[in-house]
Amino acid sequence: MACPVFLFPAIRGGVSWRAVRSSWWRNAVFYQVYVRSFADSNDDGVGDLPGITSRLDYLRSLGVDGLWLTPFYPSPQKDHGYDVADYYGVNPEYGTLDDFGSLVEEAHRRGIKVLIDIVPNHTSSRHPWFEAALAGGDDQHRARYHFARGRDGAPPNNWQSAFGGPAWTQLEGAPEWYMHLFAPEQPDLNWWNPVVPAEFRKIITYWLDRGADGFRIDVAVSLHKRRDLADRPLVPHRITGLPTTAPGFEIIDQPEVHDVYRDWRHILGTYEPERVLVGEIFDAGRQSRYIKQDELHMAFAMMDRRWDASAWKRAIDVYRRAVSRSTSLPSWTQSNHDVIRHVTRLGGSGLGRERAKASALLLLGLPGQYFIYQGEELGLEEAFVPPERREDPLYIHTNGRHPGRDGCRVPMPWRQNEPNAGFSTSPPWLPTPAAWDRNAVDAQARSSTSVLSLYRRVLEMRCGLARRLPARMDWAAAPKDCLIYHRGPLSVACNFGHRPLELDQPADNGFAVAIRPGEESPMRLVEEDE
Ligand code: NOJ
Repeated sequence: MACPVFLFPAIRGGVSWRAVRSSWWRNAVFYQVYVRSFADSNDDGVGDLPGITSRLDYLRSLGVDGLWLTPFYPSPQKDHGYDVADYYGVNPEYGTLDDFGSLVEEAHRRGIKVLIDIVPNHTSSRHPWFEAALAGGDDQHRARYHFARGRDGAPPNNWQSAFGGPAWTQLEGAPEWYMHLFAPEQPDLNWWNPVVPAEFRKIITYWLDRGADGFRIDVAVSLHKRRDLADRPLVPHRITGLPTTAPGFEIIDQPEVHDVYRDWRHILGTYEPERVLVGEIFDAGRQSRYIKQDELHMAFAMMDRRWDASAWKRAIDVYRRAVSRSTSLPSWTQSNHDVIRHVTRLGGSGLGRERAKASALLLLGLPGQYFIYQGEELGLEEAFVPPERREDPLYIHTNGRHPGRDGCRVPMPWRQNEPNAGFSTSPPWLPTPAAWDRNAVDAQARSSTSVLSLYRRVLEMRCGLARRLPARMDWAAAPKDCLIYHRGPLSVACNFGHRPLELDQPADNGFAVAIRPGEESPMRLVEEDE
């Protein structure tokens, strides 16, 4: 069941009570659906939109308020959808525009919002604009990307691609190169050319008209590149002494990016109910510049610190401060399709899972939104994907130096004792680890001690408490290796240590994580005692 959230965060900057009260997204729980791996309706081994629709009741019973769908547009899948060939369609592997319509309609019927991913930094090299730019050197289309002449056979500057190697590829038999901050199949758009912002205005309007409740914006701060395309200065590396690019020399994050979001926010403002923008921005300093009343609503407070109480406290405070001058709250998250699953990061196996349960409780009690990455509610670990089955461009373009991100993208296990843990009768696009059978949704749903049952209970409680929880939280004195905070009637304690702890603190009348000696888990959920 989706929970209506009526919290009243501090109001500044002339936002009316009414506007804040009706903000469905504040304190909402979102669920990131990695479309290719969520649910496969036609048993071809690849997830699809009708598959998601068929699992909406599962998502409702989990208690989420909104979904974020990763890109489902037509794409050659060189970066699994983040290489878009047509911003107005649905990849046939994933379904049709009608399937998108049904998904939105069915989600809305269950009170679940649907955010879609928008990829404005780059297109696919198979996008008609880029194909026209290459065919016969069409200047008008070339001006929509970054083409530049090389320097004596070398790229136009020393910028690097996030996937390894230069951020430039030379055209065959020509002196020009084109820029791509990611894979060569993802040429960067030139946001200085007014045709580009105009096109994206059309694209977002198109999807808003089809019922999208907002957008997760891919590499949100990168749109405009440094205009002079100057080399990044090189400095000696701190340890090796080898030349390395200097930090603090911005090639992205130009002031004009803010104009784009002001413009988009204005467009969103013409729709009812409220639509939202979530930027793929993890840096707290940047978040404070982009999360504003007239720009983005949210960005990701990514909790990827080592398992240490003071490191987590610091990170929580840094992200809280980042939004303190806005009317927004942090959007806590621990995993997504680009990072190693947090059960594994936190130590793996039983220990990692217990810590992941504790960290979820710690974060779910905080003021703000929470983004679940699919499978997190099952306690899934990073899967081993045999090298010959890996598809991630990060693995491919670094020649295997980076293991890639396939391990966190392996399809969902739905049913025990079925081929591929019930995801598909055909071999899934990434293989299901044999041990995942025991993680399957149906098995976990039957067990009251499973991670899934814990998530369901906590989200239900959170929903029940929503009206009574203030936007403010206060840290309380806590023993070493422990964090305790109060938020109105709610008290949360989390034990980061190895030994059980006895707390003097009463659990108040909220739900709390109590830490008792002799428990197998470092945390326990205490239900309301009224
Ligand atoms: C961020 C996305 O989350 C990631 O999966 C993708 O590879 C890059 N942006 C490039 O679009």
